[in-house]
Parts: sequence; structure tokens; C-alpha cells
Amino acid sequence: MTLLCVVVPTLNEAQNVEALIARLEKALAGIGWEVIFVDDDSSDGTADLVRRISMQKPYVRVIQRLGRRGLSSACIEGMMAGSAPYLAVMDGDLQHDERVLPRMLEKLRHENLDLVVGSRNIEGGSMGVLAGRRRLLSDVGRFLSRLVCRCEIQDPMSGFFVLDRRFLDMSARRMSVTGFKILVDLISSSPRLPRIGEVPYRFGKRQRGESKLESTVLADYLFLIVDKLVGDFIPLRFVLFVCAGLGGLLLHVGILGALYLGRGAEFVVAQAIATLAAMTLNFLLNNWLTFRDRRIRGWRSVAALFYFYAACSIGALTNLALAQFLFSRDIPWYLAGVLGLAVGSVWNFSITSVFIWRQRKAKLVR
Ligand code: GDD
Ligand code: MN
Repeated sequence: MTLLCVVVPTLNEAQNVEALIARLEKALAGIGWEVIFVDDDSSDGTADLVRRISMQKPYVRVIQRLGRRGLSSACIEGMMAGSAPYLAVMDGDLQHDERVLPRMLEKLRHENLDLVVGSRNIEGGSMGVLAGRRRLLSDVGRFLSRLVCRCEIQDPMSGFFVLDRRFLDMSARRMSVTGFKILVDLISSSPRLPRIGEVPYRFGKRQRGESKLESTVLADYLFLIVDKLVGDFIPLRFVLFVCAGLGGLLLHVGILGALYLGRGAEFVVAQAIATLAAMTLNFLLNNWLTFRDRRIRGWRSVAALFYFYAACSIGALTNLALAQFLFSRDIPWYLAGVLGLAVGSVWNFSITSVFIWRQRKAKLVR
């Protein structure tokens, strides 16, 4: 009977696959197990290699995803595809010590836990040769995880853990599934306090291939934390839009003040210039943050900026008219400016989210 399903996300790990399978065979001898590689269409032939091995070894399988990326989503898809009552997630680059898997599984079953984490931060574990910058990232990540995890866990950044399928079923639909930090996502998505254990291990050195951890992991992680904190109440996109708007607002008031008060410019002219600057900053922030999953790149973004101006010009005209009206009624300059901007912004969000950063529809191929 298959007791344990090991899920291994891979991106260009062809050099490590055979060694990993051999190590798993040794470590898990006597336990019914299977391994599912979830490969995001690696260019080095990882998926083909696993398929070849799979013909001899039916307990080895691959899911090859086309046009998709993402560590968390890969792990979840692999776990959903397995049939075993217990699941393990580990990296495909031999940095995680497969020899502790039996101990993790045993702890999970005998202590009736939901999840057992391979931890580098407890007695007997070690970060290995992890560079200082990565260590810092890991510490910052651990600190932030406390905001959403509701439990003390020493190594929430770990990508090495074993869990009970019932726990996954309970949490899976509530997960954010963005980025690298699947463990934090999993724990913070649990509808009840999870029962978690930790087993130490030494984080090994990557021998072959290279790390895929990019500079965007921190941004992805912040996205996850914010989503977990407020996502149940307010749509994350709206929160981000408001944040981008605040950036535009600061710039707006700064320029308005500088031109109107500092340079003695005419109020309407100052408001117009401030509005243009705020619109440009808003476009950049929204493209970078709010609609990051639909980000417009390259030359298309220049065109989009002009569409953005065009779409926003109606908002801007309303803004100017309103601000001018309020100003003429002796409302203070800053209040008139801000109120004009606020009304314009609501319009802007509605119109641009529909027409500029629209959800791309999959093309039907007949
Ligand atoms: N399918 C898929 N899709 N796999 C991916 C992707 C992806 O977008 N990105 C990375 N992988 C695979 C890699 O091939 C590897 O097997 C595993 O995920 C981990 O990626 P690495 O690039 O080796 O990450 P790392 O060693 O820098 O980071 C590890 O340590 C971190 C803590 O310091 C991982 O275990 C992280 O999860 C962990 O947070
Ligand atoms: Mn690695």
C-alpha cells in the first residue's frame, strides 16, 4: 500500500533527479511510497528524464506543466495528484536530507500531528552554508510569519515537510498559492490551530544546477502576508490599489503645494500638473504591484500608459472641475485638491481594471 507520496517541484533539475530517486529508494525502503515530480517545463529535459525512469519504476511519476510557473502551486498540484494518506514535499536538488523522512512520518503518525516540518533552526539542525543574505531573508521571513501563522514554528521558511492529507484537504481551498513560501501559506490557511511538530535536519549544499530563488521572492512573500492578514475582508487588489493611490496622493499634494505655494502658480495649473504626475506614478505602481499578475511589459506598457492617461482624463476632468468648484467656494486648497483627486481615483480604478489590466482569457483552439 502506498503510505507516503513525496512531491518534488522541479525547474531544471535533470542533473539531480536520478540521484534523488536512488536516495529515496534507500531511505524509504520498507515504506510504501511514490514520488511525483512537478516540473514547470524545464528546458533541460527534466520531465522527459522522469518519464523514462517511470517506465521502469511505476512509483515515479511526473506532472509536466506548460506555460505555468510557481513553487507553491507546483507543490499543491503534486499533492492533489497523489493518492497516499501522507504527503511529503521536498526540493529536487538534494539539499533536503531524505534520511529524516521516516522519522518525520513516524512523528506525524504517532503524535497524531497535522504537519511535521524539517527544521534547520532547532537543536540538531543547521542552515549549512546558506549565505548571510539568505539567512537574513530567512530571519525576516520568520518574523513576518508570526503575523499570520498563530503558532510558534522555528523554520516557517522550510520547503521540507510531511503532512496528513486530511490537513491539506482542510486548508487547500483557502490558500493564496502565490510565490515560494508554501508552508506559511498552508499553516495560515488552516481553519483551526494546526498541530505541528519539527524534526531537525542539516540543509545541504547544492551540488549541481542553480538556485531559482529570485529577487521577487520577498515581494511575493509580502503579498502572501498581506493577503492572509486582510484578504478575507477586503480584496487584496483593492488594498494594493489604495496603497498605490496613497503614493500618488503624496506626490500630488507635494507638487501642488510646491507649485501653488512655493512658485505662486495659478491653482488650476498647479492641480493639473500634480494630477499628471500622480497619474504617471499611479500607473507605474499599479502595473508593478496591484496588477502584477497581469503586468504589461515592454513597448506595450508605453501604449498602455497613454491609454491610461486617456482613460483617466475623464476622471481628471471631473477632478479638476470639482476641485475648482470647491476652491472657488473657499474650501482650503489642499482639501479641494484631495477631494478632486479622490473622486477621480474611484473612476480611474473602475475603468482601468476593466479596460487596461483586463484578465486575459484563454484562447480556444479548435
Ligand atoms: N515546478 C517548479 N516551479 N519548481 C520550482 C520552481 C518553479 O517555479 N522554482 C523552483 N523550483 C524547484 C527547484 O527546482 C528545486 O527543486 C526547489 O524548487 C527549490 O528551489 P531552489 O532554487 O533550490 O530554492 P533554494 O534552495 O534557493 O530555496 C530553498 O530553501 C529556502 C529556504 O532557505 C527552498 O526549499 C525554499 O522553499 C526555502 O524557502
Ligand atoms: Mn535549493
